[in-house]
Amino acid sequence: MRVTMIGAGYVGLVSGACLADFGHNVTCIDKDAGRVAALNRGEIPIFEPGLTDLVEANVRQGRLAFAVTGSDIGRAEVVFIAVGTPSRRGDGHADLSFVYGAVREIAPQLSRTAVVVTKSTVPVGTGDEMEHILREERPDAEIQVVSNPEFLREGAAIRDFKHPDRIVVGTDDARARDVLTEIYRPLYLNAPPIIYVSRRTAELIKYASNAFLATKVAFINEIADLCEQVGADVQEVARGMGLDNRIGSKFLHAGPGFGGSCFPKDTTALLKTAQDNGVALRIVEAVATVNEQRKRAMARKVLAALDGSVRGRTIAVLGLTFKPNTDDTRDSPAFPLITALHDLGATVRGYDPAGMEQAKPHLPSVIYCHSAYDAAEGADAVVIATEWEQFRALDLARLKSVMAQPVIVDLRNIYRADEMKRANFRYFAVGRPGVE
Ligand SMILES: NC(=O)c1ccc[n+]([C@@H]2O[C@H](COP(=O)([O-])OP(=O)(O)OC[C@H]3O[C@@H](n4cnc5c(N)ncnc54)[C@H](O)[C@@H]3O)[C@@H](O)[C@H]2O)c1
Repeated sequence: MRVTMIGAGYVGLVSGACLADFGHNVTCIDKDAGRVAALNRGEIPIFEPGLTDLVEANVRQGRLAFAVTGSDIGRAEVVFIAVGTPSRRGDGHADLSFVYGAVREIAPQLSRTAVVVTKSTVPVGTGDEMEHILREERPDAEIQVVSNPEFLREGAAIRDFKHPDRIVVGTDDARARDVLTEIYRPLYLNAPPIIYVSRRTAELIKYASNAFLATKVAFINEIADLCEQVGADVQEVARGMGLDNRIGSKFLHAGPGFGGSCFPKDTTALLKTAQDNGVALRIVEAVATVNEQRKRAMARKVLAALDGSVRGRTIAVLGLTFKPNTDDTRDSPAFPLITALHDLGATVRGYDPAGMEQAKPHLPSVIYCHSAYDAAEGADAVVIATEWEQFRALDLARLKSVMAQPVIVDLRNIYRADEMKRANFRYFAVGRPGVE
């Protein structure tokens, strides 16, 4: 099928490349001319494992192309909207200006029977408003608006797109439903369930899913706090819980709080929707509050590890992205931690395998380093903020030899206390008391 993808960011680029790989003819359109020029030179503007090869192969085979906003999309049968929906300043509602802007831009060009599919995460009712805009702009046409929320995770995005747990299609229109079925037909071999629901239901499934996962993270983080007080080990608690199929082991890793481009903004937007509709989502409210407080509180862990003060001390922070295998630093828990350390008078040396360029404008006073060992040079403590593979097996003797004192604060629980003890480190983790 002829597909246009509006927005060539983390979701649009991955989805576009995967749909091309399924055999569809895809054009990814972005308003960022620099991004499009880079893509046309074969440069991938984001870090996502496997994406460079996938894009290159599909461009070479003539199924994937890139163009700037305003380019011709007239022949596309399906137009996906994958633009950003960040938090709106002031009230936390999802900022839908990019979505509505994109709809207005494409409206004059759409074929009379095009299907417009929203991949962006949008609040309930957004599809209705998009339909309203299209009816206004194109009274001649029978364009359908479908909700098809995306569940891929950065860092494993291609695998997630090609092997989804489920595909959610929100429409009441039979023709649109057939078009979406055809789009995802290449996945039938893997037989993922396709759930056909109403558009509003589809929109809410996405927010409810993210809020639920965020709840698991916030829950285990609070249990970690309790573990520290009562002498239990949160990793063993999580394992003991997660083996119960009704609970599941995913998203039960205690750490510095959730971040990223989705959970924080999506929980806030869901709360806003609930508020606007006179419904109290008290659990989600608590999750958002608990998580916000937790991120900055992580600095207290570093303080405790350095006997109550970091003033004049040097702290190495390993990992600036919100999780490994991405260059995305949006709402990364490392940021409030670093800001708090700065506020407390510390010098911060930072290293991240992929996220330093994104971090620099937000954290200009960090000393950016070339490696974990470079960051640890002269440091009074190393803080592991993101569990990149390359931080999992650091040469502890080498690390110790360059540090001012051997202290590690492991906010991701990736090391074992006994190996740290053998290497003569003072070791602090999350929800594992007595590991020092
Ligand atoms: N990143 C994720 O892991 C993820 C996962 C699932 C869902 N989502 C949702 O998908 C949506 C996109 O997220 P993202 O992370 O890919 O965002 P992003 O910021 O990486 O990409 C958005 C892109 O859209 C482009 N854009 C904005 N307005 C445009 C317009 N009018 N025409 C053409 N291009 C335009 C921007 O230039 C940018 O390149 C959001 O709603 C997000 O919540 C994201």
